[in-house]
Amino acid sequence: MSKTSTILLSATSLLCLTAALCYIHLKPVLANAQEPDQQTPARTAPTRNSHDFLGLGPAPDTAAAKLGEPIYKENCATCHGPSARGAQGPNLVRSVLVLHDEKGEEIGPVIKNGRPQGGMPAFTNLSDTQIYDIAEYIHLQVELAANRGLYTHSNTIISGDTEKGKVFFAATCATCHSVAGDLATIGTRYPQPAAMLARIAWPSTHGPRQATVTTNNGKKLTGTLIHYDDFETTLRIDAGGTSTWSTPTVTVDIPDKLGGHRALLPKYTDDDLHNLTRYLMTLK
Ligand code: HEC
Ligand code: HEC
Repeated sequence: MSKTSTILLSATSLLCLTAALCYIHLKPVLANAQEPDQQTPARTAPTRNSHDFLGLGPAPDTAAAKLGEPIYKENCATCHGPSARGAQGPNLVRSVLVLHDEKGEEIGPVIKNGRPQGGMPAFTNLSDTQIYDIAEYIHLQVELAANRGLYTHSNTIISGDTEKGKVFFAATCATCHSVAGDLATIGTRYPQPAAMLARIAWPSTHGPRQATVTTNNGKKLTGTLIHYDDFETTLRIDAGGTSTWSTPTVTVDIPDKLGGHRALLPKYTDDDLHNLTRYLMTLK
């Protein structure tokens, strides 16, 4: 149910993306971003919009995240890094599992059971509430990474340098994109700097994920992933029908076409993002 509503919400925000009116939603976010601790209702609503806008799912529960921070620091930071960007353990800000988690339902089982073969211990001592708080803390780190560019006022975005943006694009983006091809008219689609910047930083849109399941007798089935966690996988098969497996008995391959973008996220400086925004806005 919550997945469906997320999909619906994202579909609406996707439509909204193409409309100039989006900027009206985004503006309060810019103001809000400078004071992340403000929590009056009037400011909470736009934050939610920024989430849908960025395709990030529900806004993190900031009160829980605050409680989760010391628990994270004590139990997880040595392996996953102080702000979850990875150390000997993987970067959680870029984790596909984390991005698809809404309230700890995917992160929780990993914390409880660990990944013994992969080098992560089980944390049987943590309560469900503590696990929820940690999950919210991790979501807040994802939010901070994705929203970082939006913290700066749009005037600063405009002040980016087109030439530097062009050079950065050629070096970093041209492997997947072309200014004469897929991005040739991107400037007309996102005429507002903030919308363009959000699109560059985080082009993801929630929606049904495609996946291929390989069963233990080697049969491959492709379709839309309806449910996926450490225990159970449900696929709506393209050829028709729905199947459910116990996850450990099958191989689930979920192509992540935005992996390239997630990998770039922690690497941009604010200037890089402003220069790119300015440059892509000239493509009309
Ligand atoms: C001793 C090091 C270590 C500690 C401590 C640790 N982890 Fe991990 N964690 C890992 C490793 C290594 C992996 C990758 C294991 C694998 O995928 O096989 C991992 C995987 C994960 C994943 C899954 C990421 C993905 O994309 O599949 C999550 C979520 C996670 N850890 C959260 C946590 C949280 C929250 C804590 C603290 C309660 C924690 N970890 C503590 C080492 C650790
Ligand atoms: C590894 C490949 C890869 C790299 C590198 C990459 N992108 Fe993307 N980009 C994608 C994919 C895949 C999409 C999603 C396209 C889709 O949804 O159909 C995308 C989407 C986008 C979009 C949204 C396009 C739209 O029509 O709304 C923008 C803007 C964008 N990328 C800009 C960049 C910029 C700027 C860089 C360099 C800093 C970059 N990308 C680097 C693969 C990449």
